[in-house]
Amino acid sequence: MKPIISRKIEEYCLRHSSARNTLLRELERYTQMHCDYPQMLIGPHEGALLSLLVRLTGARRVLEIGTFTGYSALCMAEALPKNGRLVSCEINPERAAIARSFFKRSQYRNKIKIRVGPALETLASPPRSTRFDFVFIDADKENYVNYYQAVLPRLQTGGVIVADNVLWSGRVLAPKNKTDRAVVKFNKHVRRDPRVECVMLPIRDGVSLIRKR
Ligand SMILES: C[S@@+](CC[C@H](N)C(=O)[O-])C[C@H]1O[C@@H](n2cnc3c(N)ncnc32)[C@H](O)[C@@H]1O
Repeated sequence: MKPIISRKIEEYCLRHSSARNTLLRELERYTQMHCDYPQMLIGPHEGALLSLLVRLTGARRVLEIGTFTGYSALCMAEALPKNGRLVSCEINPERAAIARSFFKRSQYRNKIKIRVGPALETLASPPRSTRFDFVFIDADKENYVNYYQAVLPRLQTGGVIVADNVLWSGRVLAPKNKTDRAVVKFNKHVRRDPRVECVMLPIRDGVSLIRKR
């Protein structure tokens, strides 16, 4: 992933954002040392943003699409109230197992549940009546529009969807392959949807904040 902003600016932003806890540091180190594609983990800057957004919105029910090793889930769980709940969807059982092993060690473990399987199938399976206040989309780009369409009806009015990688290392400016085009399609889809208001931020690989009207 090619950084959108310079490493130095990102580090400066990080030094002037709240510090993260030691478990998150350990999880990032573990992921870098033992997992393929460690750059998929959102990292401390975006993690702090997610955490603050969950707190600011007062979200109680959070859905995550794309657990990986659990970093973003832990960031969001920490900001949930005591009775808050987070469901995180992950297709890869090994990654889910790593995430679980870190969740077990977290004081927020009771708030988090992982659902293993393709996220669209998980979303289509019962209980379909569950509503969410906050959704983080961070899985396969080809399904971003499908995820968005599946979760928007289940998002409370005023609820927020955060979508990651919406700048796709800048490739949205000159899409070449199927994945590039999927990200461009998603961004256009959201911008044209009268059901929401949105803002795209050049944080890390691009983050869109989408609020349901
Ligand atoms: C970018 S990573 C998520 C990073 C994570 N949010 C974090 O910050 O640590 C994307 C994850 O989505 C998972 N994934 C890909 N396709 C999926 C699908 N169809 N359903 C559920 N998870 C999927 C991948 O296995 C991968 O672990």
